[in-house]
Amino acid sequence: VFAAFDLGPEADRESVARMMRLLSDDAARLTQGRAALADTEPELAATPARLTVTFGFGPGLFEAAGVAAARPPSVADLPAFPIDRLQDRWSGGDLLVQVCCDDAVTLAHAVRMLWKDTRAFAAPRWVQRGFLPARGSHAAGTTPRNLMGQVDGTVNPGSADLDRLVWAAGDPQWFVGGTVAVVRRIRMDLDTWDVLDREARELAVGRRLSDGAPLTGEAEHDDPDLAAVDAQGLPVIPDFAHIRRARGAATGPTMLRRGYSYDEGPGPDGTHDAGLVFVSYQADATAQFVPVQRRLAELDLLNRWTTPIGSAVFAIPPGCEPGGWVGQTLLG
Ligand code: HEM
Repeated sequence: VFAAFDLGPEADRESVARMMRLLSDDAARLTQGRAALADTEPELAATPARLTVTFGFGPGLFEAAGVAAARPPSVADLPAFPIDRLQDRWSGGDLLVQVCCDDAVTLAHAVRMLWKDTRAFAAPRWVQRGFLPARGSHAAGTTPRNLMGQVDGTVNPGSADLDRLVWAAGDPQWFVGGTVAVVRRIRMDLDTWDVLDREARELAVGRRLSDGAPLTGEAEHDDPDLAAVDAQGLPVIPDFAHIRRARGAATGPTMLRRGYSYDEGPGPDGTHDAGLVFVSYQADATAQFVPVQRRLAELDLLNRWTTPIGSAVFAIPPGCEPGGWVGQTLLG
């Protein structure tokens, strides 16, 4: 569950700090299987089921807390991309609360506890729910599939690349060890995607549906050969293929992508309301996310079946020691 909140008009540094102390305490307890303070259903906290809670600060939080100068520069609205059809109801927000869990009841309870503790400070802005396959999750070491059926998440940083790509270093000092999250709600037009034949679907991405291997390779993690041509001299991985466009001149991962599928079923207009809560984490969204999204907006065959309808950017503060609270290095 990704929940975004807007701070109230009376918010200031002191009140935001108070809120973060409360929320950090809730997160510490709930992730360890202990009831939150004033938990009305303490039994529902007993099975943490790999519960994690991640907080993010949107641009408005820095303003409200009077610390605008400390905002990491890329924590701002993204530039507009020509493919965007953004809706307010899925965009922006001062505070992000991301709650992940393997158990839907634990998850619902944790979200509710956290939600209650934001009430005095902030109003809900949007909620997005996403899911991963039970088998084939990042945690299990297997790459998940999205609702288009593709293996999605292959080219991602390993633990050795996290310092370089994901964790912020240097300036601003309070943000060292934090990261920037980009959350994009991308609707998939599954009804028209379904009618494409398999070969066309594989060409759109540049990878096989069966196992995620590049069209020029044998196994999922083989390096795509972007120079390879077929008997007619045409690129095996087409110019419009998603992986060619996403990669650009890079030779490896550029961000940590960790999206979740969403599926709200058939909408009132009869079309299927499903897609991807695309989430990427990077040290600097302007340097890492924006150039990739620009190239994709310019040319990527997947654009025919995918439409960004929501967008938000948050600073994910560094974690804290036991007894500390998330955001302390900024607001303490
Ligand atoms: C619904 C929308 C999208 C779908 C269905 C999708 C699907 C995929 C798939 C199947 C792959 C190949 C496997 C992999 O490496 O994970 C891939 C790769 C990638 N995607 Fe996407 N993607 C979407 C949106 C985006 C967006 C918005 C971005 C960033 C702006 C992005 C950036 C990338 C990158 C950087 C790669 C790795 C490319 C490489 O170096 O090989 N994707 N995506």
